[in-house]
Amino acid sequence: MVAPRKGHLFESYSIRPDSPYLRTSRTRMHYRPLGRTGLNVSVLGFGTGTRFGQKRNQTQAQATLLVRTALDLGVNYIDTAPMYLEAEAMLGGALAGVPRKRYIVATKFFPMHDGGVPITPAELRLSVECSLRRLHVETIDILQLHGLRPHWLEPVMAALGAELEALRAEGKYRFLGVAETIVADPRHEMVPRAAPTGRFAMALVAYPLLSPWAETTALPACAYHGLGAIAMVAVGRALRAPAHLARLLQAARARGEPGASDLPAENPLDWLLDGHAPTLAAAGYRFAVAHPAIASVLAGTLSIDHLRANIAAVCAPPMPADQLSRLRQVFLRTDPEHWRPYDL
Ligand SMILES: NC(=O)c1ccc[n+]([C@@H]2O[C@H](COP(=O)([O-])OP(=O)(O)OC[C@H]3O[C@@H](n4cnc5c(N)ncnc54)[C@H](OP(=O)(O)O)[C@@H]3O)[C@@H](O)[C@H]2O)c1
Repeated sequence: MVAPRKGHLFESYSIRPDSPYLRTSRTRMHYRPLGRTGLNVSVLGFGTGTRFGQKRNQTQAQATLLVRTALDLGVNYIDTAPMYLEAEAMLGGALAGVPRKRYIVATKFFPMHDGGVPITPAELRLSVECSLRRLHVETIDILQLHGLRPHWLEPVMAALGAELEALRAEGKYRFLGVAETIVADPRHEMVPRAAPTGRFAMALVAYPLLSPWAETTALPACAYHGLGAIAMVAVGRALRAPAHLARLLQAARARGEPGASDLPAENPLDWLLDGHAPTLAAAGYRFAVAHPAIASVLAGTLSIDHLRANIAAVCAPPMPADQLSRLRQVFLRTDPEHWRPYDL
């Protein structure tokens, strides 16, 4: 049995000293600067995408244990959104009493109505104020425009730019960011448009190894214009479900995409596995963190064992260069329209 250290985060949260989560050895977290914000973020970030916010998946007590374990393991970057069902409220509950300097919270607002009309400044303000209340914080560290399509940028900023400035001046949030859509922007065209405007400090970018197209557009734009890049959907479904991966590759071969034909039919990605990436999920997170423009990779997990494994994967020695170049030779020779992060 390992007793909590004096001043250890667990001690103040009354986690039983015989908790199995205290027994395994811990990986030391790495941190990277987030663009020019002055924030140093953990290379593994905690994603609260929809499963975290569904009460049928976990109780508040389980969510609290998960979030506090993540913090205790050195995670300091947490991504959430009003659209993730109950996620903001559950996160707020989990963070109650945690010293504010222990975490960086990034949330979002959805800037467009269904009919393609931007939300009003009053609706923006209401969204931000509701997020503040649900999260129980006085300031949101990062406020992102959620799911921004490339052609939404100009109308949304024309409608909301002044209110965004006012909200920042009032201290409601610190840094403005943009979050790509994982559905409708497979060529990552929004971030290269948003980055040169000078309005944004960071971008949330889809960067799965099965569809690494962000490194040809969005990630160079972030690096050039000084935005911090956070990777999302690094793993998705196909890296965890061999049958789904096989179907994707089979369809790609049938379309005549040259990259897919370069992979073996059986266990097509097993050459990515080694002592530092024992599973394809680990390889997915390890791949995303290897890009120099990425400050942190979000992992959406409800499992403390997966959380630990993911930290080990992103803090391991970098993915070897021959693996990186083989991945590019395969997946940059596919059709991004057919490898949308949402479908992976
Ligand atoms: N446009 C947007 O704004 C947008 C869109 C999508 C996502 N996001 C953000 O990005 C975050 C990350 O995205 P995501 O949650 O879809 O992607 P992800 O981290 O790529 O994948 C999460 C899935 O992988 C599983 N998983 C995680 N670690 C694993 C491991 N070590 N072994 C096996 N399975 C593992 C999780 O299930 P288990 O619970 O079983 O671990 C979960 O089903 C979201 O939570 C959200 O905060 C933002």
